[in-house]
Amino acid sequence: MAEFQFDLTVIGSGPGGYVAAVRAAQLGFKVAIVEKYQTLGGTCLNVGCIPSKALLDSSHHFHDAQHKFKAHGIQVSGLKVDLPTMVSRKQEVVNATTEGVKFLMNKNKVTVHHGHGSFKDRHTIQITSTDGKVSEITTDKVIIATGSKPATIPGVSIDKSRIISSTEALKIDKVPKRMVVIGAGVIGLELGSVFARLGTEVDVVEYTDRALNGMDGSLGKEIVKVLKKDLGFNFYFSHKVVSAQNNGKSVVVKALDPTGKEVEFNGDYCLVATGRKPYTDSLGLEKIGVSVDERGRVSVDGHLMTNVDGVYAIGDVIKGAMLAHKASEEGVFVAEVLAGQHPHINYKAIPGVVYTWPEVAGVGYTEEELKADGVPYKKGDFQFRASGRARASMDTDGFVKILAHKETDEILGMHIIGPRAADMIMEGVMGLEYRASAEDLAIFSHAHPTFSESIKEAAMDATGARAIHK
Ligand code: FAD
Ligand code: NAI
Repeated sequence: MAEFQFDLTVIGSGPGGYVAAVRAAQLGFKVAIVEKYQTLGGTCLNVGCIPSKALLDSSHHFHDAQHKFKAHGIQVSGLKVDLPTMVSRKQEVVNATTEGVKFLMNKNKVTVHHGHGSFKDRHTIQITSTDGKVSEITTDKVIIATGSKPATIPGVSIDKSRIISSTEALKIDKVPKRMVVIGAGVIGLELGSVFARLGTEVDVVEYTDRALNGMDGSLGKEIVKVLKKDLGFNFYFSHKVVSAQNNGKSVVVKALDPTGKEVEFNGDYCLVATGRKPYTDSLGLEKIGVSVDERGRVSVDGHLMTNVDGVYAIGDVIKGAMLAHKASEEGVFVAEVLAGQHPHINYKAIPGVVYTWPEVAGVGYTEEELKADGVPYKKGDFQFRASGRARASMDTDGFVKILAHKETDEILGMHIIGPRAADMIMEGVMGLEYRASAEDLAIFSHAHPTFSESIKEAAMDATGARAIHK
């Protein structure tokens, strides 16, 4: 048997790659990780989940101070935004988090190589560092965890100065007067919220007729209503963007309205938030014959192995939701498969969360999916305006919706828009994983007063007309 320097090499250190490396090391493998940037943690830690949440939290505080404190009996004068400080605090959060990954690599004795990784052959990974130096390591197995990059649309090229992706938006240090956001998806609504809270006039131009495609339709409708009311968002649905032009200090975005007429939007910036694409540039996949699908995603089987024996792929670079926790689950999965275990991922029980305020979260089947599949279902809901906890905190927008099988009462989906929905959705995840009935949730004791009591009420509603406070 050939001798290799490493049992496993992971290419990419995002939440897919670094988690796979740690789990494989725990299971006794000798592991290397290759990351082209100087910091570990990938998109999520450096330019995704963590920095966006840091800015969302900061801007939320500002918005509350401006619009809610007075009603709470708190007077503030001289309130203003210091965006450079906000941005540097964000960077401190990022730095501390990426340092944490470095610590985990040391703790688990994972060898870290910085540089661009590519296949020389099936068992040799070439690493090209920023100064152009090339080194090689040999490895038995490989996990491709190279993630994704922002995608754009025909007629719009991201110049990173005025026509920007989320990566540049996270670094803006002067509050723009106007911003045109292309796409009413997750990034459009989250980063649109950051700037709208700080005082930017935000126009969202969306190709389809709804926001948050892929989530339960009721959530998109409600968040649009709230973002218009609370943050003054302007939404332009069924508008197809055809071009964006940087005029030096501003951008002109042209789109076709539902009648086919060309309309114009002007902004200091145009944020392109039209999805992300798998990243496999210069990875040398062709050298070992790894197949990709029509969208450039690395093709994998049920064990997340590519068509090349011993080469696996996880996270944003393969099919499925582009979510950090999905990537991490897949990282653990592959490490355990390599150790001869029989792990399982229930993709239907992976929650999706949008960190607007109110937060939006969903897990399981949407109502649209159940209708399309002809599954008999019943529905229970509860509005936060009827919750004492929500009234106390002035967070009365939104609702909990539970979908359960009409005959068996098994929970099929939970969809929440409301305060702390991101944390509350875990009750739905547990329900789905344990195949609980709506009645199970209805009979659990929920502390009073909590936002999560609304889940109990929605569950009681789903099991029959049992909701107490509805
Ligand atoms: P990535 O995190 O993209 O990591 C891939 C790594 O591989 C990168 O570090 C890259 O430099 C490296 N790499 C690529 N090619 C090579 C190579 N050839 N050699 C060496 N290294 C290479 N998801 C959530 O679940 N929750 C959120 O709140 C959330 N917020 C987001 C906010 C924004 C603004 C964005 C853009 C994304 C957000 N996401 C969020 C999505 C999340 O970031 C991704 O789903 C997640 O990072 C995917 O993890 P990954 O490990 O597959 O890839
Ligand atoms: P997205 O897929 O969520 O939304 C893209 C939107 O752009 C869609 O609504 C689409 O219809 C629209 N669009 C496409 N072409 C258009 C055109 N020509 N004109 C107008 N609109 C057009 O993608 P987004 O927001 O860029 O996010 C990328 C990924 O990052 C997502 O898959 C998401 O999972 C992940 N992410 C996750 C977060 C979270 O979990 N909280 C936060 C941010 C990103």
